[in-house]
Amino acid sequence: MNTYSLIVSHYDDAMDTFLYDQYLQLIKKHAIPKRFLEIGAGTAKISLALHDFFQHIDAFDVNKAMVKNASKNNPYKHVNIFTHDMRQPLLQTYDCIAAPIDVFNHLSDFTVFKTTLSMWLDHLNPNGIFLFDVLKCDYLTSLEGYQETLPTIDHQTFQWRVEKTDTPCQVQYVLEQDSIIAKHYERSYPIEDIEDCLSAYRMIERIELEERIIYMIKK
Ligand SMILES: C[S@@+](CC[C@H](N)C(=O)[O-])C[C@H]1O[C@@H](n2cnc3c(N)ncnc32)[C@H](O)[C@@H]1O
Repeated sequence: MNTYSLIVSHYDDAMDTFLYDQYLQLIKKHAIPKRFLEIGAGTAKISLALHDFFQHIDAFDVNKAMVKNASKNNPYKHVNIFTHDMRQPLLQTYDCIAAPIDVFNHLSDFTVFKTTLSMWLDHLNPNGIFLFDVLKCDYLTSLEGYQETLPTIDHQTFQWRVEKTDTPCQVQYVLEQDSIIAKHYERSYPIEDIEDCLSAYRMIERIELEERIIYMIKK
């Protein structure tokens, strides 16, 4: 089982609203308020918070449980939430595309990382902007061996741990609840290699936080 399927109903409580605010501020400051796409939208908190800013919003996630939860909370006709894998293109183009909070860290191969990034930049309308973030390698590897027991709102608990893998800059998240075990990998790449891929684009914003860098770029 994938960890997001297991934590979906507790996901919003566990997330850091500071990062959501960073994305919302950046988008409202720079985006043309027409067509928005959120990649790896999870529970679509960012897309739903932008319902009165954009004319049309598409938001997708590969995890069906996340999409189901997001759709349940979506009363808006111009916000379209669906299941899709970010490694595959869509037919539409957008004025603003965002992959917020670790989404690109789910790409476990640097060639796939680069082709996925460049594919989504090709989905931008003229003057469109693209935002994403990546966790730093040092931060990800510093999590190895971390474990915690988390209470949930319905008085259950999760056991949560982070395991080392044989791949550089990669960890495996393992979540256990009763006899259910769920796992997923997150990987990063050296910042120089990531920024090398971005050198062909215009950097509009680069926000370095302790654990990650948020990039906003233009073609
Ligand atoms: C940490 S969550 C971030 C969710 C959301 N963007 C937010 O800000 O709360 C990462 C999300 O990326 C999604 N994801 C991972 N691999 C994906 C893929 N190949 N295509 C689309 N979404 C993917 C996961 O299912 C998960 O919902």
